[in-house]
Amino acid sequence: MKIAFLLSLHFTLLVSIHCYGGNGYDPLETALNAQRAKRSVTGHATTKAEYSYSPVYVGQQHGLKDADKISAFPGQPSGTDFDQYSGYVTVEPNHGRALFYYFAESPANSSTNPLVLWLNGGPGCSSFGNGAMMELGPFRVNPDFTTLSHNKYAWNNIANVLFLESPAGVGFSYSNTSSDYKTGDEQTAKDSYTFLVNWLERFPEYKTRDFYITGESYAGHYVPQLAQLILRNNKFTNQTVINLKGIALGNALVDEETENTGMYDYFWTHAIISDEIHKGIVSNCNFSEAGTITEACLDYQLQAIAARSNIYSYDIYAPLCSPFSNSTPSISGFDPCTENYILLYLNTPEVQQSLHAKPLIWESCNKNMPKNWTDMPFTVLPVIQELMGSGISVWIYSGDTDGRVPVTTSRYSINKLQTSVKTPWYPWMYEGEVGGYVVGYENLTFVTIRGAGHFVPSYQPARGLALFSSFLEGKLP
Ligand SMILES: *[C@@H]1O[C@H](CO)[C@@H](O)[C@H](O)[C@H]1NC(C)=O
Ligand SMILES: *[C@@H]1O[C@H](CO)[C@@H](O)[C@H](O)[C@H]1NC(C)=O
Ligand SMILES: *[C@@H]1O[C@H](CO)[C@@H](O)[C@H](O)[C@H]1NC(C)=O
Ligand SMILES: *[C@@H]1O[C@H](CO)[C@@H](O)[C@H](O)[C@H]1NC(C)=O
Ligand SMILES: *[C@@H]1O[C@H](CO)[C@@H](O)[C@H](O)[C@H]1NC(C)=O
Ligand SMILES: *[C@@H]1O[C@H](CO)[C@@H](O)[C@H](O)[C@H]1NC(C)=O
Repeated sequence: MKIAFLLSLHFTLLVSIHCYGGNGYDPLETALNAQRAKRSVTGHATTKAEYSYSPVYVGQQHGLKDADKISAFPGQPSGTDFDQYSGYVTVEPNHGRALFYYFAESPANSSTNPLVLWLNGGPGCSSFGNGAMMELGPFRVNPDFTTLSHNKYAWNNIANVLFLESPAGVGFSYSNTSSDYKTGDEQTAKDSYTFLVNWLERFPEYKTRDFYITGESYAGHYVPQLAQLILRNNKFTNQTVINLKGIALGNALVDEETENTGMYDYFWTHAIISDEIHKGIVSNCNFSEAGTITEACLDYQLQAIAARSNIYSYDIYAPLCSPFSNSTPSISGFDPCTENYILLYLNTPEVQQSLHAKPLIWESCNKNMPKNWTDMPFTVLPVIQELMGSGISVWIYSGDTDGRVPVTTSRYSINKLQTSVKTPWYPWMYEGEVGGYVVGYENLTFVTIRGAGHFVPSYQPARGLALFSSFLEGKLP
């Protein structure tokens, strides 16, 4: 019975559902294309209106923490020595809008370790399914998609890690008002903030704890925007003060111009496109906010995408997940079919029950979301600049085999920030080998992770944890 159910689920889901970056679906590309199309019609993004404070909704949280405690996941390995919780926090009671979280405490020192929020991007991709189950969480789903194994390099070894599915419509997060699914950056930041204020009421022992926000990809928008909102609202003393200490952005989209220039330069320097196509892009494309995309530029971009062919752009040297070929092992040893195991596991009713989740068809990414996205500033560099001057620590890191938001893009973005080098570029070591490279700027640290694609903790778990540990210690690796 169970097997039959899983097999039919296996078939339906794998055929119909698009995973994050897999099966040819690229949420970031979809979102950027949709925004570009809108901009050419509606003109360019306007400057942000002056910030005005409004108090957030705070619901009754008494007793909800105990109800959220996970006794065990189905198929969980023995020897699990930390507490874990998951459930919903209502952020808009009138609309019935609630965000889903998963929280993994540290096995040791959880009462003193910092609190870290992790956000995946998309927009529309799940922080629980991708962040926790595929990247940095305590468990990985086995190929039998019914059992789990321990991730030795989980980030909750050194921090209490909170995974938030954001905005509503992503993963297990939902709203009873369907128009809420048409959303954007601003609403996402507001809801995430309301979530945090309420979550801290539910887990009051974390109220004064050192707090960090980390995330990847399109979370290059979410993380700085949420950090900015927290710092602004912290000034209103009748509101919860959140003890924000720093942010870390991984392979993050922070500026559309450098996203394009950096990506095509990466394709050329990594032998993915020809000299002619690269030259055509350089001489015909003006990717700046004020620039217009010409026919010639579009044509060269299409040629570049065609020339790239069906490599996995999120980790350019990785094998594809294919039932038709014997996958060669990737540089990192990461199983390229992991997304499928997660999809099947998280759509098992017993698993959803153990998580206290609303029964639904869970998807790695909501593919309606990028096209419906209402506001997406061309650049968040001014927000990052504001944070750099605020005294919190700001880290940008990059897995150097990502072709989606590549290391060139991050370097060009940092050039635009015009900060000066304090500690010159050097290799950082991990277990006797180069883990990557690092450069310390005024108020900003940039770290690369050697041999990692877009999802750094998936591809280089040990180096990823070493980087995270340095970030929390506030010391260059
Ligand atoms: C959404 O509606 C369902 C059914 O009425 C209700 O049980 C649930 O509490 C609502 N969600 C929120 C967040 O209010
Ligand atoms: C817990 O904290 C103590 C005291 O700071 C430290 O010596 C120990 O290594 C920590 N344990 C772990 C597993 O981090
Ligand atoms: C908090 O203070 C601000 C002004 O400083 C005020 O506008 C707001 O209504 C206050 N909120 C509450 C919940 O008292
Ligand atoms: C791109 O276009 C903008 C607006 O027309 C212009 O100011 C800028 O100089 C152009 N950049 C390049 C490299 O030509
Ligand atoms: C926007 O979202 C709605 C559902 O909320 C969906 O039906 C529609 O197809 C989406 N639009 C696009 C362009 O994806
Ligand atoms: C770094 O932060 C200080 C204040 O903490 C600020 O005065 C300075 O302008 C900042 N520099 C950069 C490049 O952000």
